[in-house]
Amino acid sequence: MESYVFECGEARVDKPKVVLGVSGGIAAYKACELLRRLTESGHDVRVVPTESALHFVGAATWSALSGHPVSTEVWSDVHEVPHVRIGQGADLVIVAPATADMLAKAAHGLADDLLTNTLLTARCPVVFAPAMHTEMWEHPATQENVATLRRRGALVVEPAVGRLTGVDTGKGRFPEPAELFDVVRRLLARGDRPAQDLAGRHVVVSAGGTREPLDPVRFLGNRSSGKQGYALARSAAARGARVTLLAANTALPDPAGVDIVPVGTAVQLREAVLKAAADADAVVMAAAVADFRPETYATGKIKKKDGEAPAPIALVRNPDILAEIAGDRPRAGQVVVGFAAETDDVLANGRAKLARKGCDLLVVNEVGERKTFGSEQNEAIVLGADGSETPVPYGPKEDLADTIWDLVVQRLV
Ligand code: CTP
Repeated sequence: MESYVFECGEARVDKPKVVLGVSGGIAAYKACELLRRLTESGHDVRVVPTESALHFVGAATWSALSGHPVSTEVWSDVHEVPHVRIGQGADLVIVAPATADMLAKAAHGLADDLLTNTLLTARCPVVFAPAMHTEMWEHPATQENVATLRRRGALVVEPAVGRLTGVDTGKGRFPEPAELFDVVRRLLARGDRPAQDLAGRHVVVSAGGTREPLDPVRFLGNRSSGKQGYALARSAAARGARVTLLAANTALPDPAGVDIVPVGTAVQLREAVLKAAADADAVVMAAAVADFRPETYATGKIKKKDGEAPAPIALVRNPDILAEIAGDRPRAGQVVVGFAAETDDVLANGRAKLARKGCDLLVVNEVGERKTFGSEQNEAIVLGADGSETPVPYGPKEDLADTIWDLVVQRLV
């Protein structure tokens, strides 16, 4: 076993110090990708594997990718007291993958190796990314351990649903490393702001644009990419919320720890919103919902006929989901947020729409040249039913997402 050399006060002090704990699951190989992203983006990463993690990925790999020696136990370099100082000096600790055994040890405060000692001494944000078979994840023992860790302020990322080791599929999959990296980045960026201010909350976010089918191959749709809704989902998950993301026709990677419900049409979205909102603390309608749909659906492809004018397409109104949910809240005290795109008289039109829809907050985008659908940037004014106005300058959609959640948190009872 290589010895551990603690480098407190050396040249890397300016870099955020991240501890990557790795416990013994097959997803350990995916943690190499997370490690790479962290080091390449300027983080000083200490890898602390458990003894069993080294069965999956060896010490040489962790050491080469992190640029630091690694150790699993507390007995090397005792004069440096690494079992205390690694945790004390960290800006963030992430355990990825976290096995059922590791969650149990952490929940009960066991300290029988370097990683569990590090967890007890860390006073920074701590993230667990569990990965295991569905039965182990769903077992009441694991669920109680997860609840304990969350109650104490740790962020336990919900595992993804999908292919597990072998042929089985279900909940328990390790999230995409890029998405876990995003969680780490967001938490470190929160600085002194409360990291887990949405812990214990359930939030529902709609994203993307609905498609209203005309025939089996055509639809009426819009250009919404879903990026603002996904940014909202990522932000809420990193702040500890249970997130249901109703994704209308998006082509974006699944955010880590988010429950994704794909939908197609406005009518399907309405059903999904009403179902998910039943126990939600907040609902944010970021999806671009088609106001109209074709009156009839042709079961066969509509054909052109030479010499004949095309038949007009009759449209009917879709339900206004935002107005419905804001007017008759499925849960008392629920905070409801809408979006609006305006070209002129932004404030006056926004205020009128806020009143008409009956929501608590309306995020008004001024539609203009550089503010197009699909862009990474956004600029908005968030209007409150209490008369407040919060301008959010042109910048990443992530910043707007964080401001929206700040305003929601202020309104949660
Ligand atoms: N919305 C909805 N159901 C609809 C239409 C819109 O829930 N059938 C929601 C959207 O998700 C968004 C807000 O209402 O949060 C947008 O309202 P809308 O009246 O469509 O405003 P604009 O898109 O700004 O369009 P317009 O001013 O043309 O009405």
